[in-house]
Amino acid sequence: MHIGAIRGTARLITALAMVTAACGAGHRAATADHSTTDHSTTGHTTTDHSATGPAAAGAAIAGPAAEGPAATGPAVTRRSRRSAADAKPIDCRRVKCVALTFDDGPGVYTDELLRHLAAYRARATFFVIGQNVAAHPEVLRRTYEAGHEIGGHTWSHPDLTKLTAAAVRAQFARTDQAVKAAIGVTPKLIRPPYGALSASVRRQTRRPMVLWSVDTLDWLHRDSARVARKAVRSVRPGSIVLFHDIHPTTVAAIPQVLKLLSARGYRFVTVSRLFGGEPPRLVYSRARG
Ligand code: NI
Repeated sequence: MHIGAIRGTARLITALAMVTAACGAGHRAATADHSTTDHSTTGHTTTDHSATGPAAAGAAIAGPAAEGPAATGPAVTRRSRRSAADAKPIDCRRVKCVALTFDDGPGVYTDELLRHLAAYRARATFFVIGQNVAAHPEVLRRTYEAGHEIGGHTWSHPDLTKLTAAAVRAQFARTDQAVKAAIGVTPKLIRPPYGALSASVRRQTRRPMVLWSVDTLDWLHRDSARVARKAVRSVRPGSIVLFHDIHPTTVAAIPQVLKLLSARGYRFVTVSRLFGGEPPRLVYSRARG
Protein backbone atom coordinates (compact mmCIF):
# COMPACT_ATOMS: atom_id res chain seq x y z
CA MET A 1 0.00 0.00 0.00
CA HIS A 2 1.50 3.27 -1.03
CA ILE A 3 -0.97 5.72 0.28
CA GLY A 4 0.40 6.13 3.74
CA ALA A 5 3.77 6.93 2.36
CA ILE A 6 2.67 9.86 0.29
CA ARG A 7 3.87 13.01 1.86
CA GLY A 8 1.72 15.72 3.30
CA THR A 9 -1.84 15.55 4.34
CA ALA A 10 -3.03 13.44 1.47
CA ARG A 11 -5.13 10.53 2.50
CA LEU A 12 -7.28 7.86 1.07
CA ILE A 13 -10.95 8.22 1.50
CA THR A 14 -13.03 5.14 1.29
CA ALA A 15 -16.31 6.58 2.40
CA LEU A 16 -18.27 7.69 -0.57
CA ALA A 17 -20.15 10.25 1.46
CA MET A 18 -16.93 11.91 2.49
CA VAL A 19 -15.73 12.09 -1.06
CA THR A 20 -18.87 13.77 -2.23
CA ALA A 21 -18.80 16.14 0.67
CA ALA A 22 -15.19 17.05 0.06
CA CYS A 23 -15.31 17.46 -3.65
CA GLY A 24 -18.68 17.07 -5.14
CA ALA A 25 -20.79 19.64 -3.44
CA GLY A 26 -18.78 22.72 -4.17
CA HIS A 27 -18.14 21.75 -7.71
CA ARG A 28 -21.71 20.81 -8.39
CA ALA A 29 -23.03 23.93 -6.77
CA ALA A 30 -20.87 26.00 -9.02
CA THR A 31 -21.30 24.08 -12.21
CA ALA A 32 -24.50 25.41 -13.65
CA ASP A 33 -22.54 27.18 -16.33
CA HIS A 34 -20.26 24.19 -16.72
CA SER A 35 -23.06 21.83 -17.53
CA THR A 36 -25.03 24.04 -19.80
CA THR A 37 -22.29 25.80 -21.67
CA ASP A 38 -19.61 23.24 -21.98
CA HIS A 39 -21.27 19.95 -21.69
CA SER A 40 -24.52 19.85 -23.47
CA THR A 41 -24.34 16.67 -25.40
CA THR A 42 -24.71 18.29 -28.74
CA GLY A 43 -22.71 21.39 -28.04
CA HIS A 44 -19.70 19.79 -26.46
CA THR A 45 -17.88 18.88 -29.59
CA THR A 46 -19.14 21.51 -31.91
CA THR A 47 -18.84 24.46 -29.57
CA ASP A 48 -15.57 23.59 -27.98
CA HIS A 49 -13.79 22.33 -31.01
CA SER A 50 -14.98 24.38 -33.91
CA ALA A 51 -12.83 27.26 -32.79
CA THR A 52 -9.57 27.59 -34.58
CA GLY A 53 -6.92 26.49 -32.20
CA PRO A 54 -3.21 26.01 -32.45
CA ALA A 55 -2.10 23.88 -35.33
CA ALA A 56 -2.37 20.25 -34.49
CA ALA A 57 1.30 19.63 -34.88
CA GLY A 58 2.21 16.00 -34.58
CA ALA A 59 5.72 16.66 -33.37
CA ALA A 60 7.09 13.94 -31.20
CA ILE A 61 7.44 14.91 -27.61
CA ALA A 62 11.14 15.28 -27.03
CA GLY A 63 13.23 14.33 -24.10
CA PRO A 64 13.68 11.18 -22.08
CA ALA A 65 10.63 10.22 -20.17
CA ALA A 66 10.86 10.94 -16.50
CA GLU A 67 8.14 8.55 -15.53
CA GLY A 68 5.19 6.72 -16.84
CA PRO A 69 3.29 3.61 -16.03
CA ALA A 70 4.15 0.57 -18.05
CA ALA A 71 1.57 0.05 -20.71
CA THR A 72 0.86 -2.28 -23.49
CA GLY A 73 -0.19 -0.27 -26.46
CA PRO A 74 -0.51 -1.14 -30.08
CA ALA A 75 2.74 -1.88 -31.87
CA VAL A 76 3.07 1.61 -33.21
CA THR A 77 3.22 3.11 -29.75
CA ARG A 78 4.92 0.37 -27.84
CA ARG A 79 8.46 1.62 -28.29
CA SER A 80 7.85 5.13 -27.00
CA ARG A 81 5.72 3.89 -24.15
CA ARG A 82 8.36 1.36 -23.22
CA SER A 83 11.11 3.96 -23.13
CA ALA A 84 8.90 5.98 -20.84
CA ALA A 85 8.50 3.02 -18.54
CA ASP A 86 12.19 2.15 -18.61
CA ALA A 87 13.24 5.44 -17.12
CA LYS A 88 13.60 5.30 -13.38
CA PRO A 89 10.15 6.05 -12.02
CA ILE A 90 9.65 8.92 -9.68
CA ASP A 91 9.18 7.79 -6.10
CA CYS A 92 6.50 10.01 -4.60
CA ARG A 93 7.42 8.80 -1.14
CA ARG A 94 10.71 10.64 -1.51
CA VAL A 95 9.97 13.64 -3.67
CA LYS A 96 7.14 16.12 -3.82
CA CYS A 97 4.64 14.97 -6.42
CA VAL A 98 1.57 16.56 -7.91
CA ALA A 99 -0.86 15.06 -10.41
CA LEU A 100 -2.15 17.56 -12.92
CA THR A 101 -5.36 16.30 -14.54
CA PHE A 102 -7.10 17.59 -17.62
CA ASP A 103 -10.75 16.85 -18.32
CA ASP A 104 -13.19 16.98 -21.21
CA GLY A 105 -10.80 16.68 -24.15
CA PRO A 106 -9.19 15.81 -26.37
CA GLY A 107 -9.63 19.00 -28.30
CA VAL A 108 -7.93 21.55 -30.45
CA TYR A 109 -5.82 22.96 -27.60
CA THR A 110 -4.52 19.64 -26.35
CA ASP A 111 -1.48 19.55 -28.63
CA GLU A 112 -0.29 22.88 -27.33
CA LEU A 113 -0.69 21.56 -23.80
CA LEU A 114 1.40 18.52 -24.71
CA ARG A 115 4.20 20.81 -25.80
CA HIS A 116 4.10 22.71 -22.51
CA LEU A 117 4.18 19.48 -20.53
CA ALA A 118 7.05 18.10 -22.60
CA ALA A 119 9.11 21.23 -21.99
CA TYR A 120 9.12 20.35 -18.28
CA ARG A 121 9.16 16.60 -18.78
CA ALA A 122 5.89 16.60 -16.93
CA ARG A 123 3.43 13.74 -16.97
CA ALA A 124 -0.27 14.33 -16.54
CA THR A 125 -3.56 12.46 -16.62
CA PHE A 126 -6.25 13.15 -19.19
CA PHE A 127 -9.87 12.23 -18.41
CA VAL A 128 -11.32 12.16 -21.87
CA ILE A 129 -14.83 12.40 -23.27
CA GLY A 130 -15.59 9.49 -25.58
CA GLN A 131 -17.22 11.56 -28.28
CA ASN A 132 -14.22 13.88 -28.33
CA VAL A 133 -11.89 10.92 -28.63
CA ALA A 134 -13.91 9.79 -31.64
CA ALA A 135 -13.53 13.28 -33.12
CA HIS A 136 -9.80 13.62 -32.33
CA PRO A 137 -8.30 10.12 -32.10
CA GLU A 138 -4.90 11.33 -33.32
CA VAL A 139 -4.69 13.84 -30.48
CA LEU A 140 -5.33 11.08 -27.97
CA ARG A 141 -2.68 8.96 -29.63
CA ARG A 142 -0.09 11.71 -29.27
CA THR A 143 -1.11 12.22 -25.65
CA TYR A 144 -0.69 8.56 -24.87
CA GLU A 145 2.57 8.21 -26.77
CA ALA A 146 4.01 11.11 -24.78
CA GLY A 147 3.64 9.02 -21.64
CA HIS A 148 0.54 10.57 -20.14
CA GLU A 149 -2.17 8.54 -18.47
CA ILE A 150 -5.59 8.27 -20.05
CA GLY A 151 -8.73 8.01 -17.93
CA GLY A 152 -12.37 7.85 -18.97
CA HIS A 153 -14.79 10.72 -18.39
CA THR A 154 -17.86 9.15 -20.04
CA TRP A 155 -19.11 9.39 -23.59
CA SER A 156 -21.16 12.60 -23.41
CA HIS A 157 -20.58 14.05 -19.93
CA PRO A 158 -23.93 13.38 -18.23
CA ASP A 159 -24.54 13.43 -14.50
CA LEU A 160 -24.30 9.69 -14.00
CA THR A 161 -26.42 9.75 -10.87
CA LYS A 162 -29.40 10.67 -13.04
CA LEU A 163 -29.01 7.74 -15.43
CA THR A 164 -30.16 4.15 -15.25
CA ALA A 165 -27.56 1.52 -14.47
CA ALA A 166 -27.62 0.35 -18.07
CA ALA A 167 -27.09 3.88 -19.35
CA VAL A 168 -24.14 4.36 -17.01
CA ARG A 169 -22.56 1.18 -18.31
CA ALA A 170 -23.17 2.30 -21.87
CA GLN A 171 -21.40 5.61 -21.14
CA PHE A 172 -18.34 3.68 -19.96
CA ALA A 173 -18.45 1.07 -22.70
CA ARG A 174 -18.72 3.52 -25.58
CA THR A 175 -15.84 5.53 -24.19
CA ASP A 176 -13.76 2.40 -23.76
CA GLN A 177 -14.37 1.48 -27.38
CA ALA A 178 -13.34 4.90 -28.66
CA VAL A 179 -10.20 4.97 -26.52
CA LYS A 180 -9.27 1.44 -27.50
CA ALA A 181 -9.73 2.27 -31.17
CA ALA A 182 -7.37 5.23 -30.77
CA ILE A 183 -4.59 3.85 -28.55
CA GLY A 184 -5.17 0.13 -28.21
CA VAL A 185 -5.95 0.08 -24.50
CA THR A 186 -8.91 0.99 -22.35
CA PRO A 187 -8.80 3.48 -19.47
CA LYS A 188 -7.98 2.08 -16.04
CA LEU A 189 -9.35 5.10 -14.23
CA ILE A 190 -12.67 6.91 -14.44
CA ARG A 191 -13.60 10.41 -13.38
CA PRO A 192 -17.35 10.93 -13.15
CA PRO A 193 -18.59 14.22 -14.65
CA TYR A 194 -19.10 16.88 -11.96
CA GLY A 195 -17.67 14.43 -9.46
CA ALA A 196 -21.21 13.10 -9.20
CA LEU A 197 -21.29 9.63 -7.72
CA SER A 198 -23.81 7.33 -6.12
CA ALA A 199 -23.69 3.79 -4.84
CA SER A 200 -25.48 2.68 -7.99
CA VAL A 201 -22.95 4.40 -10.26
CA ARG A 202 -20.11 2.82 -8.32
CA ARG A 203 -21.57 -0.64 -8.85
CA GLN A 204 -21.39 -0.29 -12.64
CA THR A 205 -17.61 -0.59 -12.81
CA ARG A 206 -14.79 -1.96 -10.72
CA ARG A 207 -12.44 0.76 -11.84
CA PRO A 208 -11.38 3.50 -9.44
CA MET A 209 -13.24 6.77 -9.57
CA VAL A 210 -10.74 9.60 -9.43
CA LEU A 211 -11.85 12.96 -8.13
CA TRP A 212 -9.55 15.84 -7.24
CA SER A 213 -8.31 17.89 -4.32
CA VAL A 214 -7.65 21.20 -6.06
CA ASP A 215 -10.34 22.68 -8.29
CA THR A 216 -8.89 25.54 -10.31
CA LEU A 217 -12.39 26.59 -11.51
CA ASP A 218 -10.72 27.20 -14.86
CA TRP A 219 -14.02 26.64 -16.70
CA LEU A 220 -15.50 29.56 -14.77
CA HIS A 221 -12.56 31.95 -14.67
CA ARG A 222 -11.26 32.06 -18.21
CA ASP A 223 -8.22 33.97 -16.98
CA SER A 224 -4.81 32.33 -17.27
CA ALA A 225 -3.12 34.31 -14.52
CA ARG A 226 -5.94 33.58 -12.11
CA VAL A 227 -5.99 29.88 -12.95
CA ALA A 228 -2.23 29.59 -12.53
CA ARG A 229 -2.32 31.47 -9.24
CA LYS A 230 -5.08 29.26 -7.87
CA ALA A 231 -3.25 26.08 -8.82
CA VAL A 232 0.13 27.16 -7.50
CA ARG A 233 -1.26 28.44 -4.21
CA SER A 234 -3.35 25.38 -3.54
CA VAL A 235 -1.01 22.54 -4.43
CA ARG A 236 0.44 20.43 -1.65
CA PRO A 237 2.46 17.25 -2.00
CA GLY A 238 0.06 14.58 -3.27
CA SER A 239 -2.47 17.01 -4.73
CA ILE A 240 -4.65 16.08 -7.67
CA VAL A 241 -5.41 19.26 -9.61
CA LEU A 242 -8.44 19.66 -11.87
CA PHE A 243 -8.10 21.54 -15.16
CA HIS A 244 -9.93 21.39 -18.50
CA ASP A 245 -7.83 21.34 -21.64
CA ILE A 246 -10.75 22.50 -23.78
CA HIS A 247 -10.13 26.07 -22.66
CA PRO A 248 -7.28 28.03 -24.27
CA THR A 249 -6.94 30.12 -21.12
CA THR A 250 -6.21 26.96 -19.16
CA VAL A 251 -3.59 25.74 -21.61
CA ALA A 252 -1.97 29.18 -21.52
CA ALA A 253 -1.80 29.00 -17.72
CA ILE A 254 0.15 25.75 -17.66
CA PRO A 255 3.67 27.06 -18.39
CA GLN A 256 3.41 29.29 -15.33
CA VAL A 257 2.07 26.42 -13.22
CA LEU A 258 4.92 24.17 -14.33
CA LYS A 259 7.55 26.85 -13.83
CA LEU A 260 6.50 27.89 -10.33
CA LEU A 261 5.81 24.41 -9.01
CA SER A 262 9.07 23.11 -10.49
CA ALA A 263 10.89 25.88 -8.66
CA ARG A 264 9.31 24.60 -5.45
CA GLY A 265 10.63 21.13 -6.11
CA TYR A 266 7.49 19.46 -7.41
CA ARG A 267 7.50 16.62 -9.90
CA PHE A 268 4.56 16.19 -12.21
CA VAL A 269 3.28 12.64 -12.29
CA THR A 270 0.29 10.67 -13.47
CA VAL A 271 -2.42 9.74 -11.01
CA SER A 272 -1.29 6.13 -11.01
CA ARG A 273 2.32 7.16 -10.38
CA LEU A 274 1.14 9.24 -7.44
CA PHE A 275 -0.15 5.98 -6.01
CA GLY A 276 3.09 4.12 -6.56
CA GLY A 277 2.56 2.99 -10.14
CA GLU A 278 -0.70 1.18 -9.64
CA PRO A 279 -4.15 2.57 -10.20
CA PRO A 280 -5.74 3.33 -6.85
CA ARG A 281 -8.16 0.64 -5.80
CA LEU A 282 -10.99 2.62 -4.33
CA VAL A 283 -12.95 5.75 -4.81
CA TYR A 284 -10.66 8.42 -3.61
CA SER A 285 -9.90 12.03 -3.50
CA ARG A 286 -7.41 14.14 -1.69
CA ALA A 287 -9.17 15.56 1.27
CA ARG A 288 -9.59 19.26 1.65
CA GLY A 289 -7.21 20.18 -1.12
NI1 NI B 1 -15.89 17.29 -17.13
